[in-house]
Amino acid sequence: MKKSVFVTRQLPGDGLRKLADSCDLRVWPNPGPITPQSLHSEMVGVQGLLCMLTDRVDCNLIKSLPGLEFVSSMSVGVDHIDVDAMTDRKIPVGHTPGVLVETTADTAFALLLAAARRIAESDRFIRHGQWSSANTWSPEFFVGKDLWGATLGIIGLGEIGKAVARRAAGFGMQVVAYNRSEASAPGVDLLPLEDVLAKSDFITVHVALADDTRNLISAQRIALIKPGAVLVNTARGGIVDEVALAEALMDGRLSAAGIDVFSEEPITRSSPLLNLPNVVLTPHIGSASVQTRIRMADLAVANAIAALAGQTMPCCVNPQVYD
Ligand code: GLV
Repeated sequence: MKKSVFVTRQLPGDGLRKLADSCDLRVWPNPGPITPQSLHSEMVGVQGLLCMLTDRVDCNLIKSLPGLEFVSSMSVGVDHIDVDAMTDRKIPVGHTPGVLVETTADTAFALLLAAARRIAESDRFIRHGQWSSANTWSPEFFVGKDLWGATLGIIGLGEIGKAVARRAAGFGMQVVAYNRSEASAPGVDLLPLEDVLAKSDFITVHVALADDTRNLISAQRIALIKPGAVLVNTARGGIVDEVALAEALMDGRLSAAGIDVFSEEPITRSSPLLNLPNVVLTPHIGSASVQTRIRMADLAVANAIAALAGQTMPCCVNPQVYD
């Protein structure tokens, strides 16, 4: 008998057609993310789950599914999944690293440039009818910061951090980085975290969210950042203390920020970041290019098909389950 797999979203590309050849497939038919209650009821009696980063796969859900054999997430980050609970049950968890590296590095760079050169603020200025002959080009009109000649601090020198470093070299930046373990990239000086914060004119965050990185850029560490620096986060919201960041932006200690990820998503209407003109906000679109989303969907499907065939997933977060 074929195994059953539940997929929480329609996927781009033709991955679902391939997956349907290997299992009894059900895809959540409604627009928008599935609710936790519906996910729970859809999963009863199902062996495999292909989920998104918007789906919480917590220990309660896992406990209630004795027949669960694998989870494959269409994301590189897996902080929405209780991986320890899955590992305890010897259930493999798949994810999609590698395929989104260049696209996410592009997003980080887009936010760096937009925040440095006040692009979103300028766009609002024009649309709100504020560009008038009395308020127009002048020596200090919308001046921002140069990337050229500035120091970029990369927090997390993994594949995405390295892709950002390559872009920074082309922009004539000096690059320093912090990584918790040994890492290297051409032209990048590895430094302790505090030194990266103190030296960098621009800081970009590229670590995964885990117990040891939650609140890594805490209020105390934000206080160490070089005055006037720009901070960009395309990794995960829980890594940066958003309230402390908003305070530093409000009182001018940081000149600007570009933020794609938030401690709560969608962002809460009460977030202090929403009222700050010097923050560029994007709604978690780091990997959002047409081609990359197809590659991510295909890899999530390949992980699921391997699990259905009793094989090792090509990209497994907890490969120790195969020991
Ligand atoms: C995006 O944030 C991902 O984890 O894939």
